[in-house]
Amino acid sequence: MKLTILGGGGFRVPLVYGALLGDRAEGRVTDVVLHDLDAGRLSAVARVLTEQAAGVPGAPAVTATTDLDEALRGADFVFSAIRVGGLEGRAADERVALDQGVLGQETVGAGGIAYGLRTVPVAVDIARRVARLAPDAWVINFTNPAGLVTEAMSRHLGNRVIGICDSPVGLGRRIARVLGVADPREAWIDYVGLNHLGWVRGLRVAGRDELPRLLADPDLLGSFEEGKLFGTEWLRSLGAIPNEYLHYYYFNREAVRAYQEAEKTRGAFLRDQQAHFYEAMKRPDAAALKTWDSTRAEREATYMSENRDAAGAGERDADDLSGGYEKVALALMRAIARDERTTLILNVRNQGTLSVLDTDAVIEVPCLVDANGAHPVAVDPLPDHATGLVCAVKAVEREVLAAAESGSRTTAVKAFALHPLVDSVNVARRLVEGYTAEHPGLAYLK
Ligand code: G6P
Ligand code: MN
Repeated sequence: MKLTILGGGGFRVPLVYGALLGDRAEGRVTDVVLHDLDAGRLSAVARVLTEQAAGVPGAPAVTATTDLDEALRGADFVFSAIRVGGLEGRAADERVALDQGVLGQETVGAGGIAYGLRTVPVAVDIARRVARLAPDAWVINFTNPAGLVTEAMSRHLGNRVIGICDSPVGLGRRIARVLGVADPREAWIDYVGLNHLGWVRGLRVAGRDELPRLLADPDLLGSFEEGKLFGTEWLRSLGAIPNEYLHYYYFNREAVRAYQEAEKTRGAFLRDQQAHFYEAMKRPDAAALKTWDSTRAEREATYMSENRDAAGAGERDADDLSGGYEKVALALMRAIARDERTTLILNVRNQGTLSVLDTDAVIEVPCLVDANGAHPVAVDPLPDHATGLVCAVKAVEREVLAAAESGSRTTAVKAFALHPLVDSVNVARRLVEGYTAEHPGLAYLK
């Protein structure tokens, strides 16, 4: 089983490889191909993987290449975790938006649109190459903005591309824990929406919805991250637990202000931290795994104390900090490769699941996964307020896809202007000015 990782020089790749190392079962990944445009980053990460594999019997063989077509040929799975424009680009996405007084988060609002406009053309090129060179491969997309990018790729790969995010499962796990559910895997999480724009409406254990018990208990509700982030009163008003990214909608003013006041934006912070690692790895005798590990530990500690709190969020425990997207990716690959039927919350084509959206719209929803791929399960309709947001943001995503396809600047302005978190058409125009001046990757907009 051959897994190709695009963005193979990325800082989080050792997490994915670590998950693979723990997989001893039949039909596991035996070969990992790392692809990246940057040979220096590629070799830095490859060295970490070599050290991780030391002494592990049957560790997947690792090769690295800067040739995309070579990386794709013969792949069974393609894991896409690229960052077009790098973390420098992410920092610019944040800065340009904040200068206009709007949110520049990497997936939400103006920042997400800018990042999407840069990423979609690259993702589409990858999708076309996969369709040609590895037509039977399954593509797992983690590249943000994950829902939009998955939809762009699905136009060329159909249901063979599946988008992943660890936030819904993390949210479900936190709710299950606070409710005292012994094994969170036994719980059915009634979650639906778009990526980073979904709501937990119920959590069933042994056929019983336990969420009302949480909503009725202010102490319980106030004791976990989303309770602190959104406030118990607002959660009770909603009657659901929103994905943490909805904080940027429900408390937009506060979020923008916190970001403006923060010493560094998230992108700038990660850029500086990771530069440290790649710089240190230029020394041929650097202890790769140790350097990676200490960068990561330092990174998370600082993030928790500075940025999260600035944005109003509570602290996360170590388990949540590990993210867990590598676990979602591994569970998905296992289910497909071995026909091990499981349910996971994934980004797939709607196919009638939410009746307000068309069939090809990519949504985030619980799916039954087996050797035939991911099949969305039927869910109750969203309440009107959630439908409104989901439809508005999907309409924006469609404008982004249209702008990426046509290269029309006017369409790009429309995408920004229609976003619920951009409060004036003039702001949208200035955002397009600012972003095109900043990003060579947006030179295609005419
Ligand atoms: C969460 C989100 C991902 C995001 C990740 C890292 O897991 O669901 O989409 O990539 O956090 O965020 P960061 O700000 O550390 O890059
Ligand atoms: Mn995510």
